Amino acid sequence: ERIRVYAPATVANVACGFDIFGFAVNRPGDEIVLEKKEEAGIRIIEITGDDGRLPLDVAKNTAGIAIQKYLAHIGQEDQGFNLSLHKDMPLGSGLGSSAASAVAGVFAANELMGKPLTQQELLPFAMEGERVACGSAHADNVGPSLLGGFIIIRSYQPLDIIQIATPKDLYASIVHPHIEVNTKDARGILDKEISLSTTITQMGNVAGLVAGLLLPDYELIGRSLVDVIIEPSRAILIPQFAEVKAAAKVAGALGCSISGSGPSLFALSKGEEIANKVANAMKNQFALVGIDSDIFVSSVN
Ligand code: HSE
Repeated sequence: ERIRVYAPATVANVACGFDIFGFAVNRPGDEIVLEKKEEAGIRIIEITGDDGRLPLDVAKNTAGIAIQKYLAHIGQEDQGFNLSLHKDMPLGSGLGSSAASAVAGVFAANELMGKPLTQQELLPFAMEGERVACGSAHADNVGPSLLGGFIIIRSYQPLDIIQIATPKDLYASIVHPHIEVNTKDARGILDKEISLSTTITQMGNVAGLVAGLLLPDYELIGRSLVDVIIEPSRAILIPQFAEVKAAAKVAGALGCSISGSGPSLFALSKGEEIANKVANAMKNQFALVGIDSDIFVSSVN
């Protein structure tokens, strides 16, 4: 028995929602081929698209860990699998690369085991993959990669995940500059304490973004795509950050911020045509200082 599963990249944080907001895009993404085998144990037989950088050791691989934790939970540790991982997305890009692998792995395993768990119930195992990859079991990449659409993590303990509707003309432009930022490092530089006034500003934007998506109100979405807590610390990790953000707005974006822990940036726009223009403007801005980048445009639903 064998299955092929694709899990998409994701934009986590979405400006104001550090560790609590994320949405899935159509591509890029990861593909896993999983096959049951007679003997116990997970064997990673092949990883492509990673330039040989990802560990074949199951205990260090996000997909391997996620499947192991899942099998332990359902009491089927003796079930063996051969796993092939095909990465069609950059590592360390801020697009949820480790999350997509974990999600594809655990989803594939659940299908082959006859679906004992629901899709929602698979989330904690994919989160364990994240813990291995970057030291924290955040769900704002695995959540949307697994469930699709725009996700709110209202609570981590207990886990309370909400999927909300998004306006039909909302598009994301993503630019991935060819520099690397490690999520663990990008979390390490964050301020551990914030002031009351900063908290109030951020809460206003969080509420505004959710309301803007649901109403829908594109202008409100744009006004709310502001992050006064995380972005100021992380912007220094991305050369040209302010200029690329400004270029996105000039090209018509509603707003722009860092995708996950960076270095990718995302912008939201009304309509695909503007989103394409915005993506090109962001790419051109990076090119001005000699930084190559890839762009992706996707609807946000
Ligand atoms: N919320 C996480 C962070 C996402 O910003 O560190 C990492 O991709």
